[in-house]
Amino acid sequence: MPCKASRYLIYKKMKSVLVTGCAGFIGSTLSEKLLATGFSVIGIDNFDPFYPRPVKENNLKTCLSNPSFKFYEGDISNALVLNSIKETVHAVVHIAAKAGVRPSIYNPHTYIQANIVGTQNILDWMNKRELKKIIFASSSSVYGNDTLVPFSESANVDHPISPYAFTKKACELLNHTYHYLYNFDIINLRFFTVYGERQRPDLAIHKFVDAISKKQPVTMYGAGDTSRDYTYVQDTVVGITGALNYVSENKNVFEIVNLGNSKPISLKELVETIYELMGEEPNILYEIKQPGDVDVTFADISKARRLFGYNPETSIRDGLQNFIAWYKTQQTEEYR
Ligand SMILES: NC(=O)c1ccc[n+]([C@@H]2O[C@H](COP(=O)([O-])OP(=O)(O)OC[C@H]3O[C@@H](n4cnc5c(N)ncnc54)[C@H](O)[C@@H]3O)[C@@H](O)[C@H]2O)c1
Repeated sequence: MPCKASRYLIYKKMKSVLVTGCAGFIGSTLSEKLLATGFSVIGIDNFDPFYPRPVKENNLKTCLSNPSFKFYEGDISNALVLNSIKETVHAVVHIAAKAGVRPSIYNPHTYIQANIVGTQNILDWMNKRELKKIIFASSSSVYGNDTLVPFSESANVDHPISPYAFTKKACELLNHTYHYLYNFDIINLRFFTVYGERQRPDLAIHKFVDAISKKQPVTMYGAGDTSRDYTYVQDTVVGITGALNYVSENKNVFEIVNLGNSKPISLKELVETIYELMGEEPNILYEIKQPGDVDVTFADISKARRLFGYNPETSIRDGLQNFIAWYKTQQTEEYR
């Protein structure tokens, strides 16, 4: 597997990585992993109020205690903030975004500002610094509702069904323009419903565990027959480092790569498994399906396997158990 064999090569070539969105769920988990592997990490985040700032400050605690981590608080949709970064950077993992499908329907402008204008600023800033290697956090949402499963990167994704999905597709296109015009090496990673410790509080697994632990009913949208390709965050992070490795070792790179688990499960099965793991009797409230929600996500991950040896190893049961254990530790934390 090229990924494992050459994992330390990136450390030699790329000592310093800018992680945007470093205080979020995936960004903080990735930053910790990079620091633990010997990288310097420059992180930027604006503590977007989508969920509480103290949660994000808590995510950052371990990074902030590491002398190889430098944090900038700021909004990437303001180009001036990026100009204040003085450190050497060898590659960018651009994760910062307004996430969440449903809220994007009610606030599309804020998504366009943070996600598209923000990405434009990152690309411009990189270009000025002659910095050309970037991994971009795209999403399975771009596949919409009319793609054959399993989703292949070669599928047509011209039919987004939410502003959020539209911004991710728009950024993939923007990235291609910079690859073409300025020889950027870019991998657009399409993440598939990432879960695990620190998962965003608006996401289903977090909400379900929260409701069950408070003895409240779980609200399920639709009949429970929608399905998601849940991917454990540590597997996603290994995939991101694999992609970093790939752009480090190769030239003329422009790729779109699914980073899923390739084992979708239905909402009903997910909820039943969580109840079972938490030792509680199901208590479910059924609501109508929400606009913007896709029916199914299911990643074909053969390209990620081929390019950088991606091999997600965590079963949904193990990942859920880890999340539930983490959730319980958080109940004693001050910010809850
Ligand atoms: N979690 C998932 O299941 C999932 C699935 C597909 C794609 N993604 C993408 O992965 C990325 C990370 O997702 P996450 O779940 O960790 O979300 P998150 O909200 O926990 O993290 C995003 C971080 O970006 C920051 N941010 C937002 N706008 C910013 C701005 N204008 N300037 C600076 N920082 C800003 C936020 O404060 C936050 O800390 C996002 O781009 C998201 O669209 C996530």
